[in-house]
Amino acid sequence: MRIHISTPIDDASRIVTLFQRALPAAQVGLVEGSIVTGRDPAQADYVVTGYRNATLFYGERRMKAIFAFSVGVGHLLSLPNLPRDVPLIRLEDAGMADQMIRYVLAATLRFAQRLDVYARQQRGRAWHQLAPRAPQEIQVGVLGLGVIGSAIAQALAAQGFAVRGFSRTPKSVAAVQCVFGDARLDEFLNGLDVLVSILPLTAQNVGILNRGTLALLRDGAHVINIGRGAHLVEADLLALLAAGKLSGATLDVFHDEPLPADHPFWARPEIAITPHISGVTLPDQAVAQIADKIRRLERGLPVTGVVDRERGY
Ligand SMILES: NC(=O)c1ccc[n+]([C@@H]2O[C@H](COP(=O)([O-])OP(=O)(O)OC[C@H]3O[C@@H](n4cnc5c(N)ncnc54)[C@H](OP(=O)(O)O)[C@@H]3O)[C@@H](O)[C@H]2O)c1
Repeated sequence: MRIHISTPIDDASRIVTLFQRALPAAQVGLVEGSIVTGRDPAQADYVVTGYRNATLFYGERRMKAIFAFSVGVGHLLSLPNLPRDVPLIRLEDAGMADQMIRYVLAATLRFAQRLDVYARQQRGRAWHQLAPRAPQEIQVGVLGLGVIGSAIAQALAAQGFAVRGFSRTPKSVAAVQCVFGDARLDEFLNGLDVLVSILPLTAQNVGILNRGTLALLRDGAHVINIGRGAHLVEADLLALLAAGKLSGATLDVFHDEPLPADHPFWARPEIAITPHISGVTLPDQAVAQIADKIRRLERGLPVTGVVDRERGY
């Protein structure tokens, strides 16, 4: 069995070693550009790719599956030469849900404890005590109740927040009010104090966080975007912050990454910016998950995480 790995060069040799250890009988080759070092360059059984490599699939003739070294696959689905007849399999959690739970809890608790307001007061040397709020009084909505979104919603509910979740199809998550179906998006958003967006990038979801949808949140609400930058209409967020409709945002993902030095977000104290780190791929867990799926496929067993190309995730 041959596995070709294509990933940013920093991690590459470590990932090859991890695969070789997990699947000792496999021949593991590293793809650099369109060149595969080591074995027959044209004939991988499995390709594992960590980034958008336009030349990756040229010459591959007998792939049984392509594994994304990430949860999101929008960048791969838009590759013109991505083979249509080979299953594309994404990472499922693989240690990312725990990271993203901590990120969202940190941002939500900062808002709930009014630390953002006190930070503003500090800049003006103002000493003004605000009434405390119980978590049950704070409505938090999780947009996208997938593998990671469901885990985040449960963690927020365990902190006592009043949690709503939204998906396209019916879902059931303990202690979370689940709303589904495009027609009920407004109902889901209505009156939220905190909106957490953890959607996949699909054509339908581009610009879903815009002036119209964000205006449905409660006055002074906080927006957390950890899905993809293209979900948010950035100019609309700035306008709603300027108008005082929103009090702040915590953003991990952006239209252009790295965020350009002259981007207006940098100068806005109400916006907390992180460089796409809320859920990073952990090589040990990712390789263990992919190796397990390869073993199952080799035995003719089904695997989870196969991307639905029509749906886009
Ligand atoms: N910032 C980071 O570091 C980072 C790290 C990991 C992941 N991510 C992002 O997080 C996304 C979600 O990950 P996941 O593993 O939770 O994905 P997932 O299991 O595929 O779940 C996606 C969820 O989004 C829902 N959804 C999709 N389009 C929708 C729409 N228009 N309206 C309402 N709900 C919609 C789906 O609804 P149904 O259940 O009804 O299909 C599903 O519940 C990834 O695709 C990636 O973009 C970001």
